[in-house]
Amino acid sequence: PTLEPFVDELPILPHLDGATRAIDAVSTMHRFHRDLPPGPALAYGDGSYLGPVITARRGHETTVGYRNRIETHPFAADFDTSLHGVTEDDRTDVPTSMHLHGGVTPPEFDGHPEKISRPGEGFTYRFPNRQDAAMLWYHDHAMAVTRLNVYAGLAGVYLLRDEYDTGHPDNPLGLPSGNHELVLVLQEKIVDGTGAQNIRSTPIVPQGRWEGGAVGDVGVVNGKIWPEAGVDRGLYRLRLLNAASFSVWNLHFSNDMRFWVIGMEGGLLDAPAPTTRVRLSPGERVDLLVDFGDLEPDTTVELRNTEDAAPQAAQIGAVRMPVFMRFRAGTTRGFARPVPATLRGGPGQPPAVGPIPAVQVVRNVSLSQPSAVRIPPSIMSLNNLMFHSDDIEIPRQGTVEQWNIVNATPDPHPIHLHLVHFRVVGRQAIDTLAMCARQPQPPMGTKWTPDADPFVVEPLRGPEPWETGFKDTVVCDPNSVTRIVAYFPTADELGFDPDATFPAAVHTTDRHTDANTHHGNDDHGNADLQGYVWHCHILDHEDHDMMLKYRTVK
Ligand code: C2O
Ligand code: CU
Repeated sequence: PTLEPFVDELPILPHLDGATRAIDAVSTMHRFHRDLPPGPALAYGDGSYLGPVITARRGHETTVGYRNRIETHPFAADFDTSLHGVTEDDRTDVPTSMHLHGGVTPPEFDGHPEKISRPGEGFTYRFPNRQDAAMLWYHDHAMAVTRLNVYAGLAGVYLLRDEYDTGHPDNPLGLPSGNHELVLVLQEKIVDGTGAQNIRSTPIVPQGRWEGGAVGDVGVVNGKIWPEAGVDRGLYRLRLLNAASFSVWNLHFSNDMRFWVIGMEGGLLDAPAPTTRVRLSPGERVDLLVDFGDLEPDTTVELRNTEDAAPQAAQIGAVRMPVFMRFRAGTTRGFARPVPATLRGGPGQPPAVGPIPAVQVVRNVSLSQPSAVRIPPSIMSLNNLMFHSDDIEIPRQGTVEQWNIVNATPDPHPIHLHLVHFRVVGRQAIDTLAMCARQPQPPMGTKWTPDADPFVVEPLRGPEPWETGFKDTVVCDPNSVTRIVAYFPTADELGFDPDATFPAAVHTTDRHTDANTHHGNDDHGNADLQGYVWHCHILDHEDHDMMLKYRTVK
């Protein structure tokens, strides 16, 4: 349908405070636009699309009582039963697993893809919150159906505060708060005339088969298509999340105004970094200061997306979705304090981000598309392996590692590591053909981690202004090596054992079936689970099969 933009008001997501929260995954109906009827969706919480903003405070554990109460799945017909033991029954007995993305979380509470809760089952998560203030997010992570569950609506924001970034007007950093801090969950979707979401991007692939990436032709912010937000004329803190399935965006304002990056996935920068655009890939967050103070009353500015200007970073198959939302300046003068000079490392501020630590271990890892056939898409891989491989990365606790992420594919992939936050050293384009001629990719199932260093074709390009702090997700450009540095903490530093094993299915349950006959996790014979995962955050890719386990050891 042709939808009129900017007719819906930007929804403010409800906030959920307190030490104990109940979050249910439910089936619901949601209206994406004023001129559309409500369509089927999933949601966390009370049934409004997405979920409430969970607010937490550093040093205070958060307990989340999660329960799967999904009755019908909007994408029941899209389950691909050829992937990882997905069954016909899963369409109605929907597997879920909630993950706190960016959380420094004990493994048993990390939402492992095979730690499944089915309808009627639940699990109590405990998040220690022993990390810097940041915008995290929680979303579904169930094996081989993550793309369906998240697109349908199982995604929410988790705002971690601390004594500096308090979220109150008296915060020592001088940041806008209250109405002048906006959480913006950005997605792109296809929504049809019945108001229903459509996860199918291409007619080439039959329904019920994995497609490789869901794109959209409308911009959705906090659950509304192309909304408008009335703003005071002053400084705002905008906290953006790319919660889309596939697309990497280049975000900027329609008047090309300058704004400031103040933080990203792992927390604040040492000082605001001016820019006129940010590139945001699925899973990434960015924390911005934007000054609407120069707008005339009743004028508007749009938050836009353009295709990537850099040819080597372009994304094949991405539909161009050029706008997300509009801001309309009111007559009220808003937050009038200046952009702070520093954010960390000064008096009354959190410790500095500081320089990238010295590297002790260097590891090559690879991103590849093992089949040459691109259409219809086939499979994506890390290290030329599938998820259940035990040939995994096992960093030693207490070491600083550099991962050279060698992307041998013609697409960007946002790579996310659970448990740790890392620094981005930079990127270099490589001659992939020459690299593969010298270090041929073996048949899938045999680990392949080529050394890209002899095949780089340009000097190192350092991180972009919005990538200079602590991150948990990084976009790896096509035919490039992306170098990141991560510190793998010890159990003492974490306050929990990151290498603990945990049972596959320990559930609170009100199922009326015999619990012993139905364990979603037993499909693969994993009696014990351990550690974490790292994966591509293109949701289709992590489902098949761009995700591997990893552990750390003493
Ligand atoms: Cu946002 Cu492993 O996930
Ligand atoms: Cu990918």
